[in-house]
Amino acid sequence: MSTPVEGWHGWDAYARFYDWENAQTVGRRDVRFWADLAARADGTVLELGCGTGRLSVPVARKARRFVGIDRSAAMLRRLRARLRRARLTGRAATVRGDVRALPFRPDWRCRLVMAPYGMLQSLLSDEDLAATLDAVAGVLAPGGTLGVDLAPGLPRWGEYARRVSLRGPMSGGRRVTLIESVRQVPRHGLTIFNQEFVETRAGRRTSYPVSIAFRTLTVPQVVERVERAGFAVDAVLGGYREEAWSPDAEIWVIIARRS
Ligand SMILES: C[S@@+](CC[C@H](N)C(=O)[O-])C[C@H]1O[C@@H](n2cnc3c(N)ncnc32)[C@H](O)[C@@H]1O
Repeated sequence: MSTPVEGWHGWDAYARFYDWENAQTVGRRDVRFWADLAARADGTVLELGCGTGRLSVPVARKARRFVGIDRSAAMLRRLRARLRRARLTGRAATVRGDVRALPFRPDWRCRLVMAPYGMLQSLLSDEDLAATLDAVAGVLAPGGTLGVDLAPGLPRWGEYARRVSLRGPMSGGRRVTLIESVRQVPRHGLTIFNQEFVETRAGRRTSYPVSIAFRTLTVPQVVERVERAGFAVDAVLGGYREEAWSPDAEIWVIIARRS
C-alpha cells in the first residue's frame, strides 16, 4: 500500500468507516471537555478538521455559533447530514478548506479554535504546523482560546502487518473487518496506518484500502510552536478531566490564549 505524502490524504476513503471505528475506540470520551470549552467561549467556535461531526454536533449545541472546516468532502457530507438531523443548520456552518490557509474574510473572528483528536498531527511538517498556527492567530479574537489535544503515544506503537484489529456489524446489515498495518518513520516522527476495511453485505465482499499518516512532536516542541505563533499557553493537561500533565499521559491537552 502507498504512503500518504500529505496529512489530509486518505480521509475521503476513511469517511465510510470513520464513525464505525471511532465508536469502538475514542467513543465519547472527549465530548464533554470540548462542549464545556465551547459553552464558556462566549462567541463563535471554529473546529479545525471537524470530520464527520463526532464532536461538532454536541459542541454546536453549546456554542453561540459553530463553524467546522475540513478538507475532506466525504467527511463533511456526513457532518452536514448530522447537523440537519440535529436541526442545527441555523447556527452551524461547514466549510470545505485547508487549515493551513483558512478561507475566511480578513475581518472574520472567532472566540475559540479547537484542534481536537490529534488534528494537528495531520500536519506532517513544521512548515504546515506553522502555517496553521499563523492562520489560527489570524482568525482568533484577542484573548480568544486555542484548544489542542494530541495523542502522544503514536510513535511508541509497535509496528505490525495485516493484523485484524476490529471486526463487527455496521449499519445497513453490513459486517466489517479492519485489517491494519502500522509503520513508523522515526526520522520524520511519522506513524503510518495502512488499513483495509473489508465490508460484507448479503454475501458480497468489498475491500476498501485507507492510508493515513500522523506526525507526533513532544509537548515542549508543540508549546514552543504555539508560543512562536503569538499565543500564551495557559495550561498543559494530561487528559480530558484536566488531569495533571506527565510525559506518559495518554492524551495531552494544550490551552492557549491569543495575546
Ligand atoms: C482525526 S480526524 C478528526 C475529526 C473530528 N474532529 C473528530 O474529533 O472526530 C482529522 C480530520 O482532519 C481533516 N484534515 C486533515 N488535514 C487537514 C487539512 N490540512 N485541512 C483541513 N482538514 C484536514 C481530516 O479530513 C479529518 O476529517
